[in-house]
Amino acid sequence: MKENVIFCYSGTGNCLDMAKNIAKELGDTDIIMMRKYPAVTDVREAKRVGFVVPCYGGGLPGHVERYIHDIKVATAADSRVTLRDISTISR
Ligand SMILES: Cc1cc2nc3c(=O)[nH]c(=O)nc-3n(C[C@H](O)[C@H](O)[C@H](O)COP(=O)(O)O)c2cc1C
Repeated sequence: MKENVIFCYSGTGNCLDMAKNIAKELGDTDIIMMRKYPAVTDVREAKRVGFVVPCYGGGLPGHVERYIHDIKVATAADSRVTLRDISTISR
């Protein structure tokens, strides 16, 4: 597993672009998509875990909320940052 993991949902590509840009800056980053049940849910070996998802209808899209419950992160992880889509952040 890479040092950094970003869980990403993207319907039209904006959040995937953002996740890719963050991954490029960080280096050594896996992007795990959440449009379907994530291929990997146990990321306890990752040093950093983040989420990049859009706001759809004032909330999380698809089954993201349900999937997030299954994601296991290390309690000692340096940081766990939840990133909302830039259209929401900018408001
Ligand atoms: C079905 C749908 C619902 C949306 N609902 C909201 C919303 O409630 N609030 C908001 O700020 N943006 C909303 N948006 C805008 C998206 O969050 C925005 O276009 C985002 O960049 C889409 O990311 P994506 O391309 O990764 O899917 C919505 C977009 C769609 C397609």
